[in-house]
Amino acid sequence: MSLKPFKAVIPAAGLGTRFLPATKAMPKEMLPVVDKPAIQYVVEEATQAGIHDILIIIGRNKNNLSNHFDSVPELESTLRKKGDEAKLAKVQQSSDLADIHFVRQGEPKGLGHAVLRARAHVGDHPFAVLLGDDLIDERDPLLTTMLEEHERTGAAIVALLEVEPSQIHLYGAAAVETTDNPDVVRVTGLVEKPSAEDAPSNYAVIGRYVLAPSVFDILERTEPGKGGEIQLTDALQELAADADGPGVRGVVFRGRRYDTGDRVDYIKAIVQLAADREDLGPELRPWFKDFAATL
Ligand code: UTP
Repeated sequence: MSLKPFKAVIPAAGLGTRFLPATKAMPKEMLPVVDKPAIQYVVEEATQAGIHDILIIIGRNKNNLSNHFDSVPELESTLRKKGDEAKLAKVQQSSDLADIHFVRQGEPKGLGHAVLRARAHVGDHPFAVLLGDDLIDERDPLLTTMLEEHERTGAAIVALLEVEPSQIHLYGAAAVETTDNPDVVRVTGLVEKPSAEDAPSNYAVIGRYVLAPSVFDILERTEPGKGGEIQLTDALQELAADADGPGVRGVVFRGRRYDTGDRVDYIKAIVQLAADREDLGPELRPWFKDFAATL
């Protein structure tokens, strides 16, 4: 299926309080995962799905995030003079990736509010939202399936991951009905961070969405919800409850995903990705085994 040219929105304006003090002067999306900031993996994922127009929502400490996607002439010319083509390519990679734009959120009033800041840039087109601290392993692609499902049905598409009941309070949870496709469900309701007893299922909403621009009208009137924040989940719940609209559908993800906004998951991401790398894995894998034996 050939897809329309979608734009992508990457919210990266949260306070990142779980990572203090590292995030005192730096957004958590800039924390390195092996040797690239988390957000670069997310931008690469969007480009691999064919999206080249990317809007990043930035908060305080915006400069090091936008600098990362800019060229750095002094560094580039030093590396060029030294003939270090490999490092030069690494420096240039992030500035050549895509057409990247930035808009400020001002105050971190929640994910729904951050997405609403994209309205002027996105205009009247469907778009993808990729959370800047949520990594999907490139070996387990997800976004293209979501874009295709949106094109096919017009529904808002969320990505769902089955989690342990004890973990569902950390996510938005979806009430679902099966469809003919085992990897796609119809979402009949959404609740932000429910207790295990109140959760409608163990399907957790993870940080990938494909939305129609009509979501902006809903976000404009969405009141602050859980945590006093304007929640994207609440706007999606309205779409799910609208019997006359295309509704909300969930693509069930069964691949590798790392929530780099969480300290334990962040460390797991680095260990797993580094162990799998051709340049680092051969040295690291035996060390990991020896280390594990000491635990
Ligand atoms: P999180 O809830 O994980 O981010 O938001 P947080 O609030 O920064 O995290 P902690 O709990 O304080 O550590 C999910 C995503 O939404 C973005 C975040 O940057 C993250 O990518 N976000 C959240 C915004 O852009 N603006 C907001 O107001 C809130």
